[in-house]
Amino acid sequence: MSDVTLTIDDQSITVPEGTTILQAAHQIDKEIPTICYHPHFTAPSLCRMCVVEVEKSRVLVQSCSRACENGMVVRTDTPRVQQARKTILELLNSAVDVSDAPDIQEYMRRYGANAQRFADGARRELPLHDDNPFYIRDYSKCILCWRCVQACGEDVQWTFAIHRAGRGFETRIATFFEKPIPESTCVYCGNCVQACPTGALKAKREFWIESGRDVSELVRHSRLERRRKR
Ligand code: SF4
Ligand code: FES
Repeated sequence: MSDVTLTIDDQSITVPEGTTILQAAHQIDKEIPTICYHPHFTAPSLCRMCVVEVEKSRVLVQSCSRACENGMVVRTDTPRVQQARKTILELLNSAVDVSDAPDIQEYMRRYGANAQRFADGARRELPLHDDNPFYIRDYSKCILCWRCVQACGEDVQWTFAIHRAGRGFETRIATFFEKPIPESTCVYCGNCVQACPTGALKAKREFWIESGRDVSELVRHSRLERRRKR
């Protein structure tokens, strides 16, 4: 495998062929914001938060999945890039409850995103699933980043308990045939909960504490639920 040399924000860097722009930027301590990208998973390239300007490219380029090329000239933080990131955040915020997503909240501050810009937009409001003893699924907070699906599937666990359902605005993460988690192939590994950046998936204990409920009640509640389902 040969090396390629490119320029990122006026800094020259040589990296092995196949290195993404994001990985190259990290090597020279340049931070590029990401949402759907997780360093241990295949980049799904869904959110476009990581876009950068590449000279001679008509459109902004997703740095998490685009490989570096010889002679590339990359700019990571131009006004055009900042405007794109700001709009992405405003659109996300208009449709989904991102109040429990610390990285997104920080990006909104950084890029001056106006939380009211698309205040009239339709919102994805979905019922909270509380169907198992270990975690809740609150898909009103889901930004469809795909990280839980990757963690459950080919990138980590190979369990395939969850996948995409629906189309367009109705797209959502679901179990197969919308079965409750105990009737799915879920093995309660917790990888999806760890990977979720928005609080859509949350340990039940954490959810109970945040709701001001007595945690000792959770144990009793779980036992009763188990008995009820037998
Ligand atoms: S539940 Fe969380 S990890 Fe899964 S797609 Fe939604 S936001 Fe991403
Ligand atoms: S982080 Fe690159 S597209 Fe989401």
